[in-house]
Amino acid sequence: MLNRRSALAGAAGLALALSACSQNGESSSVRRSGRGTVGIAMPTRASERWLTDGKSLVEDLKGSGYKTKLVYGDDDPKAQVSQIENLIKQRVDALIIAAIDARSLNAVLQQAADVHIPVICYDRLILGTKNVDYYVSFDNEMVGLIQAHHIIKKLGLEHGKGPFNIELFAGSPDDNNTKYFFNGSMTLLQPFLDSRQLVVPSGQTELSEITTLRWDGPTAQKRMGSLLAKWYGSKKVDAVLSPYDGISRGVLSALKQDGYGSAGKPLPVITGQDAELPSVRSIIAGQQSQTVFKDVRDLARAAADMADDILSDRAPWVDNRSDYNNGVKVVPARLLQPTGIDKANYELLINNGYFTADELKESEVE
Ligand code: GAL
Repeated sequence: MLNRRSALAGAAGLALALSACSQNGESSSVRRSGRGTVGIAMPTRASERWLTDGKSLVEDLKGSGYKTKLVYGDDDPKAQVSQIENLIKQRVDALIIAAIDARSLNAVLQQAADVHIPVICYDRLILGTKNVDYYVSFDNEMVGLIQAHHIIKKLGLEHGKGPFNIELFAGSPDDNNTKYFFNGSMTLLQPFLDSRQLVVPSGQTELSEITTLRWDGPTAQKRMGSLLAKWYGSKKVDAVLSPYDGISRGVLSALKQDGYGSAGKPLPVITGQDAELPSVRSIIAGQQSQTVFKDVRDLARAAADMADDILSDRAPWVDNRSDYNNGVKVVPARLLQPTGIDKANYELLINNGYFTADELKESEVE
C-alpha cells in the first residue's frame, strides 16, 4: 500500500499524493490530535544561527496551530540520534531535522518510517537513507560563489593584480553542505590559482586537507596558527576563504595573535557565512570583510509550511527534483537564495529587522 512518504516524496503529482494519504488514514490521526505535533532536531546551541532557526520554527509552527518539541544535539551525533528516537517514541507527526552527521541517522529514520513519520531535512541534506521526504535549504553552491567573488573583487584579481597569498578553510567533513560551499568557491578561484595570481603557501587545496570538524572556531584558530608558523615566515597572508562566521572569528584570533591588524600588517580579506552578530560587528569594525546572509527566518517559514502541507495532505512547494541525490534517492528540494554582506551593505540587516540598529551600533569588537 502506498503511504504518505512514498507518495509525496516521489515525482507523483498532487492527485496521487492526495489519494495515497486518504488510503493510509494518517491524516485522520493528525486531525484527531488537533493540528499535530512537529519534532524539531537542531544541531547545536553554540552557534547563534541555530538558536534563531529553532525559535523561528517553533513560532511559525505554533502560528499554524501545531505543537512543537524542539531539541538541540550539542554537536554530538549520538545524542542527536537518541533525541530523535525520543521524539519518535512521543509520536510526533512530522520531523524537521538539521543533521549533525549527515550519515548517522539511517537507523533512527527507519524507526520513523516504520510509524509513518514524514521527515524534512532542514538546511543539511541527510545522506544514505530512503527515509527522508523533502529537503529545504539555501542554494549552497551560490554561498561559495559569493564568498569567492568577494575575494576576487577585493584583491582586484580580474584586473590582473597579484600574486596574493591565500589559505583555504572548509566546513565540517560530515556536513553535506561543506562540499557545495567549497566547490562553489573553487569554481571561481581555480582559474586564479592556475594563473598564479593566487598562491596557497601551505599547498593545502584539497577538501580533505582543509575541513574543520563541526565548524569549530577554536579548531580553525589552531590550524590558522600552525599555517602562519609553518609557511609564513617572511610572507603575509592576503586572503582567507572561510565558509562560516565561527571559523572566520577563529581565524581572525590566530591572525591577531600573529600581529595582523596593525598598519604594517593589515588583516587579510576574510569571508564568512551566517551573518552572526559578532561577525557583522567585526565587518563594521573593518576586521572580517564579508559574510553571507541566509535569512533563516525564511528557511524556518519554508520548513514550517512544508510540514503543514504534508500534514494537511497538500503537496509542498518544491523547486528542484533532480539535483539532491542523497546516495539512495533524489530528495525533492526547496532552495532559498543567499545574499552577500560587507561593510557597504550591512544596513540591509537592520532594514529587514534581522538586527536592530542598536545591536550593531554598540559594537565592541575585540
Ligand atoms: C552549515 C550551514 C551554515 C553554517 C554551518 C555551521 O550546515 O549551512 O550556514 O551554519 O552549518 O553551523
